Amino acid sequence: MGQGRRKLVAGNWKMNGLHAEGLALARDLAHRAVAARRPAGEPISCDLLVCPPATLFFSLAEALTGSGIFLGGQDCHQDRAGPHTGDLSAEMLKDAGCSHVIIGHSERRSEHGESNEIVRAKAAAARRAGLVAILCVGESEAERVSGQALSVVAHQLAGSIPDGMAAASLVIAYEPVWAIGTGRTPTVADVAEMHAHIRQRLGGALAEAGDVRVLYGGSVKPTNAAELLAVANVDGALVGGASLVAADFWAIARSCG
Ligand code: PGA
Repeated sequence: MGQGRRKLVAGNWKMNGLHAEGLALARDLAHRAVAARRPAGEPISCDLLVCPPATLFFSLAEALTGSGIFLGGQDCHQDRAGPHTGDLSAEMLKDAGCSHVIIGHSERRSEHGESNEIVRAKAAAARRAGLVAILCVGESEAERVSGQALSVVAHQLAGSIPDGMAAASLVIAYEPVWAIGTGRTPTVADVAEMHAHIRQRLGGALAEAGDVRVLYGGSVKPTNAAELLAVANVDGALVGGASLVAADFWAIARSCG
C-alpha cells in the first residue's frame, strides 16, 4: 500500500511538563482536534501522537479521550517485569493508555548507553505488549561530515529491528543527532536521500515494508515543517521543542496538507 501512508506527527515532550502544564497542553490539543473534525472545522490530514513524561500518562489518557490523538511513551524496558529500579515495561505503558513508544532516541543512546542490541530488545518488547515502536536512528555530525551518514543509519536499522517485525508495529524516525534541539536541519536533498535509503533498507528487512512510516525529526518547526513534510518518503515528523507549544504543534500538523 506504500503510497497510502497517512502521515504521523508525533510530539516528544522529553523531560518537560509538570502535571498542570502538561494537562493544559493536552487539553488544548484535544480541543483543536475535536474542533477540526466538526462540519465547519478545518480537518487535519495526519495522525497525531503525544509522548509526555510517564507521570502524565493517566491524566492525559483521559484528557485525550475522544480527540483521536494517540498517547505514547518515550522509552520502555525490554523485560515484562522484574528488578529494574526506575524502569517501566512496555506492558505498563500499554496499561496506562499508550499505543506507541519511542525506542532508541539518541538521548537514550548517548545518556543511557543504549546499543542497537538493547534497542532491538526494546522494540521486541513493544511488539509483545501491542505497542507501535517508533525506532529512532540518525548519524552524528562527525559521521555526516565524514560521509558515513548512510552507512551508520543502515547499520542501526540492521541491528535494531527485531526479526519478523510486522510493518504495523513499526515506525522509523530519522533524527540526525546534530539537528536535535539545535535549530539546524539537513538540506531537503539530504533528507530525501536518507529517507529513500531507509525505505530501501526496510524493503530488505521486513514484509510489507511499504506500510512502515518513516518520520523526520530534528528541529522541526512551524516555519520549516511544510518543506520537510513535502519531501518524498517523509511520512511525518517527530517533534521535540515545538511540541511543547500547542499552537506550534498544531501548525506543524496542519503543514501535512
Ligand atoms: P527537536 O527534538 O525537535 O527539539 O529538535 C526532536 C527530538 O529529539 O525528537
